[in-house]
Amino acid sequence: MSGRTPLIAGNWKMYKTGPEAVDTAQRLVELLADTADVDIMIAPVFTALDPVSQVVADSRVGLGAQNLYWEKEGAYTGEISADMLVAAGCQYVIIGHSERRQYFGETDETVNKKIRTAIDAGLIPVFCVGETEAEREAGQTFSVLDKQVQIGLGGYFAKDLGTLVIAYEPVWAIGTGKTATREQAQEAHQYIRSLIEQNIDKTLAQSMRILYGGSVKPDNVADLMQMPDIDGALVGGASLDAESFSKIVKFKG
Ligand code: 13P
Repeated sequence: MSGRTPLIAGNWKMYKTGPEAVDTAQRLVELLADTADVDIMIAPVFTALDPVSQVVADSRVGLGAQNLYWEKEGAYTGEISADMLVAAGCQYVIIGHSERRQYFGETDETVNKKIRTAIDAGLIPVFCVGETEAEREAGQTFSVLDKQVQIGLGGYFAKDLGTLVIAYEPVWAIGTGKTATREQAQEAHQYIRSLIEQNIDKTLAQSMRILYGGSVKPDNVADLMQMPDIDGALVGGASLDAESFSKIVKFKG
């Protein structure tokens, strides 16, 4: 962790109606009221953002969206803009999640545009990268990360990226119960940090938070968080239950 404030983020994916999200958020606000030295974010579905923002206002829990579109407004049926997310109370937005890449045609190029849009609107982008199982088995993990980071952050300077968070989410570890070992995760995180250092800026590389995502649970988070380049977690399944997510947030015990 090396002096960087950890961020524990919950990606609620396509789960929970508005009222269900409000209930979980209310419970989280109670359970996490006394936490310190850790940033917390939850990302519900779009329809829950506005009601959840009212529940988490003035609490330890931050709010994020799971996607955005880069245009300000217009005839883009089914899309949502950065300004709309800000108006709904978001501080964060997840960009380039592997499920969006896999099912909805997200590419490194669209991710690049979305990161720019988020930054311009004052949102903190949580930029997701990670290899598939076949890519890992073919020894391509580093080259995949290289391409995702090079294109995703192509054309950016350190001054643009002060708030950027990267999430390393190996696709084979998402929703499978097959967590990367802490050594596998550390190796990938260290590599991503070195890419930021070589391609963008050394100071930025040192201050940037890199989260691990993929089957993070209350019983494996502390172990992962011991590694020097793991600065937090992006949690799917185990973030849906308030008790389980709060245990992950309180990983220090
Ligand atoms: P799981 O924690 O369910 O594996 O999901 C991880 C993830 O995709 C978070 O964005």
